[in-house]
Amino acid sequence: MKISIILQDQTEEHEMPEVFANQSSAVRSRLVEILDGNNDGPGKLQEIADTLRELIPHYNWVGFYITLPGTRTLVLGPFAGQPTEHTRIEFGRGICGQAAERQSTFVVQDVSREDNYLSCSIKVKSEIVVPIFRDGSVIGEIDIDSHRRDAFTEEDSRFLEELALRTEPLVPKDFPE
Ligand code: SME
Repeated sequence: MKISIILQDQTEEHEMPEVFANQSSAVRSRLVEILDGNNDGPGKLQEIADTLRELIPHYNWVGFYITLPGTRTLVLGPFAGQPTEHTRIEFGRGICGQAAERQSTFVVQDVSREDNYLSCSIKVKSEIVVPIFRDGSVIGEIDIDSHRRDAFTEEDSRFLEELALRTEPLVPKDFPE
């Protein structure tokens, strides 16, 4: 039997995938602008939170929780939306703490069915929390609340996991002070 091997055009095959490919061009271009900008790390995290809340309709509260170095405590960092009483959350508590403990994205499509949940507002119906890793540890999280039940899809998870990779360098080692 004769086997023929077709060599494909390498340039096409190895093209860099588009950044935040599954987002609208408005979101993509604003995020790239922020990431390339001159603001410091926490300033960029604030700009990202503001942008996501403003441009993505089902993201009603967007915030970053940062792990207090050397502890299992998450502290509220930059956020956009209503202020929350949950400014410190231990690993294991609530949706945020469970995501930190599991070291993986945690989506709750109906918060009324989740026992281990810390409520910020009765308007919130679903939530996604995506850990930010450094050297294998959870150094922070992206937390998003939606006023819609079943708001989050696989696309949200993929997008936010990509964003988590890109925000890792923005979390200072001594943050929050
Ligand atoms: N609902 C979260 C607490 C943080 S707020 O959503 C801002 C939780 O259960 O961990």
